[in-house]
Amino acid sequence: LKGVRQRLIEKVVRDHEDDDDDRSSRVSGGTASGKTTVCDMIIQQLHDHRVVLVNQDSFYRGLTAEEAKCVHEYNFDHPDAFDTEQFLECIEKLRRTQSVQVPIYDFKNHRRCSESFRQVNASDVIILEGILVFHDPRVRNLMNMKIFVDTDADVRLARRIRRDTVERGRDLNSVLEQASPFTYLNIFLYAKFVKPAFDDFVLPSKKYADVIIPRGGDNHVAIDLIVQDIRTKLGQHDLCKIYPNVYVIQSTFQI
Ligand code: ADP
Ligand code: C5P
Repeated sequence: LKGVRQRLIEKVVRDHEDDDDDRSSRVSGGTASGKTTVCDMIIQQLHDHRVVLVNQDSFYRGLTAEEAKCVHEYNFDHPDAFDTEQFLECIEKLRRTQSVQVPIYDFKNHRRCSESFRQVNASDVIILEGILVFHDPRVRNLMNMKIFVDTDADVRLARRIRRDTVERGRDLNSVLEQASPFTYLNIFLYAKFVKPAFDDFVLPSKKYADVIIPRGGDNHVAIDLIVQDIRTKLGQHDLCKIYPNVYVIQSTFQI
């Protein structure tokens, strides 16, 4: 079984590299590029401000019973997989300094936790994170600064295999032993849905970025510059408070 698994992984990685002959597929802001890591680093540096992070993942639609039966046929990387109207509504409320209840998404069971929500309060800085946050113009245009985390596709694939097996309940070993349809949820799903959707939707949205961060969280210079810029903007907003008539500028800053 060990040998089968090894050959399987080698094949998927080889296919993946073949696809990458197209130079454009070398750039990425897609899955496992380090988006969350970059956001966490920004938030850490802005510890003296109120900062909230809203993940687009939280707005994945729950699967219907029918869809859940053939989950390996479901494309989680297509824009339709998200409830964008609800995502938009949530951001707009936060911009109006209202608190919101963000759904909690369960990656293991592909559904939202029906009972619990995450309460997010009004803040100085709102950070939106997700593979497709630049896709819908209404979401895109709400942001002051658009950052694209650009990490090599092979690095992302390796990280994703590790993360999905460790954190998201995709157990490659038991899956292979059981030979269930869930086999496809990890590496095959990548070739079938994740990479094509990256090429069709994520990569084309890179052109909307104001800042492109190569190497994600390893790029401390880029993160420092971004934090500096946010601090400057927040400072300018604070200045506006001195002039009551000018205090129309929201004290929020969206990324
Ligand atoms: P994304 O939010 O884009 O999916 P994450 O920040 O969650 O990406 O990172 C995906 C996985 O890769 C996580 O397991 C994380 O710990 C790991 N990771 C992120 N950045 C690095 C890095 N610079 N070096 C090594 N591992 C990293
Ligand atoms: O954190 P990251 O940006 O990688 O999250 C997006 C990825 O999560 C998508 O590429 C999608 O394939 C994956 N996903 C999943 N199972 C779900 C929902 C999304 O593997 N139920």
